Formats: sequence, structure tokens, C-alpha cells
Amino acid sequence: MRPTVYIADIAQHEGKEITLHGWLYNRRSSGKLHFLQVRDGTGTIQCVVFKGNVAPEVFHEADHLPQESSLTVTGLVKKDERSPIGFELDVKSLAPVAKPAREYPIGHKEHGVAFLMEQRHLWLRSQRQQVILRVRHTVEKAIRDFFDERGFTLVDAPIFTPSACEGTSTLFEVPYFDLGKAYLTQSGQLYMEAAAMALGKVYCFGPTFRAEKSKTRRHLTEFWMVEPEVAYMDLDGDMELMEQFVSYVVQTALAKHRKELVSVLERDVSKLEAVKPPFPRITYTEAVDVIQKAGHPMKWGDDIGGDEETVVAKQFDRPVMVHRYPAEMKAFYFKKDPADPKVALGCDVLAPEGYGEIIGGGQREDDLPTLEAAIEHHQLPKEAFEWYLDVRRYGSVPHAGFGMGVERCVAWICGLHHVRETIPFARMMERITP
Ligand code: 4AD
Ligand code: MG
Repeated sequence: MRPTVYIADIAQHEGKEITLHGWLYNRRSSGKLHFLQVRDGTGTIQCVVFKGNVAPEVFHEADHLPQESSLTVTGLVKKDERSPIGFELDVKSLAPVAKPAREYPIGHKEHGVAFLMEQRHLWLRSQRQQVILRVRHTVEKAIRDFFDERGFTLVDAPIFTPSACEGTSTLFEVPYFDLGKAYLTQSGQLYMEAAAMALGKVYCFGPTFRAEKSKTRRHLTEFWMVEPEVAYMDLDGDMELMEQFVSYVVQTALAKHRKELVSVLERDVSKLEAVKPPFPRITYTEAVDVIQKAGHPMKWGDDIGGDEETVVAKQFDRPVMVHRYPAEMKAFYFKKDPADPKVALGCDVLAPEGYGEIIGGGQREDDLPTLEAAIEHHQLPKEAFEWYLDVRRYGSVPHAGFGMGVERCVAWICGLHHVRETIPFARMMERITP
């Protein structure tokens, strides 16, 4: 084999003969010319097979290769104004590596999403899915870069946990030897609080599990969450961090993928351009007012559901930060507002265009007796939280953090209806394969 040339670097090889290693995406023919669309993971290029340029058996092969045959193609790189990548390949020879054992199940026509999810391992090869996965990669890298540039330390949180963090109704139980039951983590937050007292500014970034019995376009049972936690930070500082973080991630993805977002995903990127600080801030109480005025029956103390989130977010051209929710509806660890103990010092970031909550977070209870009372009030087993209470027993300080679900963020950036396309292999209530 010759040294591999990738389609993404094709411009460097103009006028030269090269060999590509890829798969046949599509082909068409017009008598003396066969046009093969060959993809190699970095891009797609049109390979033109002219009858007069190749051996007769090669010309025949070029018109009979099935979709998704793997192949090598050798030819001359030529500039072409009509090509989306600016170049095409004038084929000298080609050779199949492996021909499909059966007809490829995903043709060049509309398929239902249910079918495509069933074929997810193959669906990933489509151009649209490649773009989405590349955006996801960029988002994940931007997340790491953002925290790295600000002096945060990445601290990995455990996946097996002894207790709930976000309510007992969405726990996945796992048998755990002689110790009885373990649970798949719902959030690394409690561990990040301990780590923040050691390292100051920390974050974890890994898979998270929720036994959500909701089949909505925003819910997965397994998703990736990034969770920063900072010692000596209050809610205001936390909200500033949230808006800087979200803008950084969105602007990085936009700068890198503007072209594919527009041409492949048909995203209206002007909506993303607006995502810059400062983000509007409203209290939960003000949000309830907005929702009621829009004619939705909702009273103070109710959860803000998906439809209501959209009503609030519609008022703004950028993400909106809703803070100070009723303490009763929030997890045990939230600190209550000293100015109004009915509300918790928490904040959700709602993305525009109906994408809803992408971030949840806030300031944590740092007072030992108050936290003990909250654990009791939420009927959580105190023994399992003894280590967590130690974080308050030894040099407790105000601290805050948040969690962002990567899939909801990518769905928003890409303009996708459902989060299932943003993760390589989605896990949902009704799906665990492929
Ligand atoms: O609001 P949540 O439940 O907050 C926490 O877990 C906190 N412990 C985070 C923290 O403060 N360290 O979840 C945070 C985010 C949501 O805003 C959403 O983006 C995502 O995680 N998320 C989900 N994404 C996909 N499917 C689900 N079932 C999700 N549940 C939450
Ligand atoms: Mg939440």
C-alpha cells in the first residue's frame, strides 16, 4: 500500500497521482463515464472513471460495485469548480477490498428514524451523522479546553455509587457482591464537592445514568455530563461561569463547523451567533408569571415542564438563566436563599428555540446541621452520606457548580429534534441495541 492520502488533505495533492482507501457511497453512470462517490471518513470525493483511461474489467467493475464496498482508488487529483470540495479524482485504477455480503440496508432514500436507529451501527456512515459526531467531538474538546484554560483539574467520578444524588426515582440498581446494592451514578457532583475542597476548581466529565421513565426528545437513560465545582464560589459566580462556558462551547463549535452546520444540517447559524454573554437572568417567580400570562395553567411551586420552558425561552434570543426555584422541588443539597428560604440558590440554563434545560446547578448547602436536616427531610439514608457530611465537618466553605448534558447541548447546536442522534449509540427506555 502507498502512504495513505486523506480526502480532507486532497488540496495538497493537486496534479499528483494518489491512492485513496475508502468506501463506495454512491455511483451513477453516463455511458463512457462512471461517477463514484467515495468516502474515507474525512470527506467524500467524486471519482471519475473514463472508459478510455482504464482497463475494460476495471471499467466494468466501476459500474457494478455495490454501495458500501470497501475499495482503493488510484488516480489524478484535478481541480473542479463544481465539486463541493473543489477537486475530483481522475481514476487510473481501482480495486475492491471487500464487497458487501448483502445489499446495504440504508439506501439513498428517506428511511424512518425507527429503522435507522435499528441500523445505528451503519447509519453512522451517513454524511449527516458524521457531521453530528464531529460537532460532538468539538463540543467535548471545547469543554475540556475551557476548564483547562481556567486552571480547573479534571477529577474522574465513580460510576458505581452507594446512594442517590438526584432523587431516588431514577436510580439504576446493580447487585454488588456482599455489599448488597450499588447504583449507577446520576451525577458526580457530590464527589466533585469533596474534590473542590482539595483542588479548588475541579470538574468531572463522564457517563451518567437516569432510569427516566420519560420517552421525550430530551431524555436518555445514559448521557454524558460535565460537572464543574468551585470552592469559595456563590450563585452569582456560578451563573457567570455558566454563561461564559456556554458561549465558549457554542462559539467554538460554530467557528469550526459553520460550513457543515449550514450545508449538511441546514442550521440557521445566525441563532448561534447571538449566544454571547451576558445571558438574561430571571427568577423562577418571574418565569411563572411569564408562563401564566402566556395562558398556561401553572402555579408557584410547580415544575417548569418542557412546553413551559419553551414559553420562557422564546422571550429571548440567547439562553436564559432561571434562578431561585422553590426549595421544595429541588434536590437535598441546594442551599436556601438566606433572603427568602422558600427558594433554593439554584439556576437552570434554558437554551433558545425550544431546546429547554441544558444546565442545572447552583450553590450547595455548606452548613452541617442544615444539610443533615435536608437529608432527613428527603428520607435519604444518612449512613451513605456520612462521607459527604465530612466535607462540611472539616473546613466547610461556600461552593457552587453545575452540570451540562452534552447531548442536549449538541442537539441545540446542530438543530436536531431529538437527542438520540447526538450520541453514537443511544440508550433509552425502549432501546439498548445496537
Ligand atoms: O439538572 P440535573 O439533574 O443536575 C444534576 O445532576 C446536578 N447534580 C449537576 C451539578 O450541579 N453538578 O442534570 C444536569 C443536566 C441537565 O440540565 C441536562 O442537560 C442533562 O444534565 N440531563 C439529561 N440529558 C439527557 N437525558 C437525561 N435523562 C438527562 N437528565 C439530565
Ligand atoms: Mg435539572
